[in-house]
Amino acid sequence: MTEIVLGVTGGIAAYKAVTLLRELRESGVDVTVVPTSSALNFVGEPTWAALSGRPVATDVWTAAQDVPHVRLGQQADAVVIAPATADFLARAAHGIANDLLTNVLLTAHGPVIIAPAMHTEMWQHPATQANVRTLRERGAIVLDPDDGRLTGADSGPGRLPDPSLIADMVRELLRSDRSRTGLDLAGTHIVISAGGTQEPWDDVRFLGNRSSGRQGFALARTALARGASVTLVVGNTEDPVPPGCTVIEIGTAEELRVAMHDAIAGQDPDVVVMAAAVADFRPVTSGEGKITKESLDGAAPQLILEQTTDVLAEIVAKRGSATRPVVVGFAAETPHDGETLAERAQAKLARKGCDYLVANEVSGGAVFGESSTSILILSAEGERAHLTGVSKADAADGLWDIITADR
Ligand code: CTP
Repeated sequence: MTEIVLGVTGGIAAYKAVTLLRELRESGVDVTVVPTSSALNFVGEPTWAALSGRPVATDVWTAAQDVPHVRLGQQADAVVIAPATADFLARAAHGIANDLLTNVLLTAHGPVIIAPAMHTEMWQHPATQANVRTLRERGAIVLDPDDGRLTGADSGPGRLPDPSLIADMVRELLRSDRSRTGLDLAGTHIVISAGGTQEPWDDVRFLGNRSSGRQGFALARTALARGASVTLVVGNTEDPVPPGCTVIEIGTAEELRVAMHDAIAGQDPDVVVMAAAVADFRPVTSGEGKITKESLDGAAPQLILEQTTDVLAEIVAKRGSATRPVVVGFAAETPHDGETLAERAQAKLARKGCDYLVANEVSGGAVFGESSTSILILSAEGERAHLTGVSKADAADGLWDIITADR
């Protein structure tokens, strides 16, 4: 049975930790809740005790005969702190152990995931940012808070991410093979494009594609669980964006192109993954509002297309002879004329000049919107992995395995 310590600190978002607790319990996880005494001002002890089915303590003196400050940390498969206040981040970063939760943190053997929530000013304060950096350097996974409505009428970065998305991250961290990978991507910064682009034809119509963004999001979630920091450049998607990433939203292929180049220039990432389905062609628009039947006078509309810029090839060209970032391309293929998927993918890898290519067959629309996939991973040396009928998370881990092994 999986054991988790859920630390709750004294912020208004403590009420959302109730939903997180329920979700974790429903996934079959045993949870010991360790609130701070200020957290109990927001949600009382009986709530935590009733929903976890376990006694709740905030200090190291309750049930001292069990030495809870050592036992809880040692036994936990993971420690999750949500919400984490600025004060808690400061105490954790400095190794202060003045209540049960901070003691548990110092005795924790498993991964630690921290979801801060506070006012924007407090989050952006250099002291808080320095504490977050320290905790990340030590291997804690600190999720960036969401941007949105805060306690009052104000809004900005500081919201606790959706509890069910935090629960997804915790499940990702507890996946059976996570103990194999550990935090092997700690200190690595990864920029991932995900989802599909939409190219306007007129003011109401666009040309899109069937990408759901799921593979890109699985790459982000697994990279975070392996300790990386992730920037996601996101086009149109169906699924919610995983918490903990820096998110840049884009619409068109040209917006994606600008966002990718800005992220690479500004953040100097170690790895760039182009998982987005970028439009190869866009309508040449007149820019004159909505095309109406009346304006066509019964004639069929003419849709004239022009090619977009190949962002992946441009990223590779800009890198030139430098060794970073490592660049990964994706290829959605419908092989024909007797050519195999591997042959087409190897040719595309050479054409694009990227370091790795993840290819999947999409004949008949396969893969789009599904949670499982079959992929080939290639590098200049040839085929590196062939994963069939795997979850998109396993496919993502397969790619990280190869990249970390080659470094
Ligand atoms: N890509 C890109 N910019 C584009 C089109 C595609 O960066 N304008 C990237 C995709 O994100 C993906 C890779 O290129 O990582 C391959 O995309 P794909 O559509 O399979 O390849 P294309 O080069 O467009 O070739 P094809 O003619 O086979 O569609």
